[in-house]
Amino acid sequence: MRILVTGGAGFIGSNFVHYVLDEHDEDEVVTLDALTYAGSKENLEGVLDHPRHEFVEGDIRNREIVTELIGDVDAVVNFAAESHVDRSIEGAKPFVTTNVEGTQTLLDAAKDAGIDRFLQISTDEVYGQILDGTFSESDPLNPRNPYAATKAGADLLAQSYQTTHDLPVVITRTCNNFGPRQHPEKLIPKFIQNAAAGETLPVYGDGSNVREWIYVEDNCRALDLVLRDGDAGEIYNIGGDTEKTNLEVTRAILDAIGADDDLIEFVDDRAGHDQRYALDTEKIESLDWEPEYTFEEALERTVEYYQDR
Ligand SMILES: NC(=O)c1ccc[n+]([C@@H]2O[C@H](COP(=O)([O-])OP(=O)(O)OC[C@H]3O[C@@H](n4cnc5c(N)ncnc54)[C@H](O)[C@@H]3O)[C@@H](O)[C@H]2O)c1
Repeated sequence: MRILVTGGAGFIGSNFVHYVLDEHDEDEVVTLDALTYAGSKENLEGVLDHPRHEFVEGDIRNREIVTELIGDVDAVVNFAAESHVDRSIEGAKPFVTTNVEGTQTLLDAAKDAGIDRFLQISTDEVYGQILDGTFSESDPLNPRNPYAATKAGADLLAQSYQTTHDLPVVITRTCNNFGPRQHPEKLIPKFIQNAAAGETLPVYGDGSNVREWIYVEDNCRALDLVLRDGDAGEIYNIGGDTEKTNLEVTRAILDAIGADDDLIEFVDDRAGHDQRYALDTEKIESLDWEPEYTFEEALERTVEYYQDR
């Protein structure tokens, strides 16, 4: 299979490119990435010159580039996005143009090329918060921050291309990822680096917000499975089976680094901060998938990775 991976120089996308090239000897990957502040060719170190990999610097909103690349692949995996909630609160425009218009540009080109599979990478945040229980794939969308709203818009567009144009779309909604190659603005890498440098760890509000965490390698394995074996028109939740408050995550990082709890600094809460996300993962488990790493094992590997740098 020849796969176009958009946003492949970012955190999850680059881990996915490495994963596919390692696991599937026959597959070829084309990475399309605009190299925004969040993307880096360093994330593709080791595969930039790979004989089955091609890197193209370009924007998913550019129909010309997108048409040319999609004309030559079997599948598209769309990771490209503006992904940081705090930035979307400061200014939502790039989130609308990349996450919504960019996805629409890809969907149009995929429809015209008649490709075999369009995997839209989405997030648990599209469901909004849930205080008890879990969200299943058929629950209504209730995004509560601009980032999540644009991801929900992209999901709905992708679903509409499935029903209207019969484009073989599959959507995945994953919980919070962590692991190698994540941008240091995100909670876990930022806190590892602050703790290692003896700097404070700014925890929003009282730190009681709950998130479900997954090691990025477990997520890549699930995405790869859905790409190949998922049913067109379906949505798959992908969860890590580990719920933690932000304060618990912070303390686990301090423990792993051997730093003192005094470094915790409670700061003003994020506007509209969702209290809890949680996913029902029965559907992805029916494809014979479950996370391999516990939170503790994955955090240990992640801390080692960032300390080595
Ligand atoms: N990180 C998480 O915990 C998480 C959880 C669930 C879903 N997701 C989704 O997974 C995807 C990847 O997330 P991530 O954390 O790796 O993000 P990231 O910010 O690390 O990477 C995004 C990549 O997209 C590229 N990009 C941005 N705008 C582009 C454009 N217009 N054209 C081409 N490339 C562009 C960036 O250069 C970057 O390489 C996103 O769609 C995100 O919504 C992330």
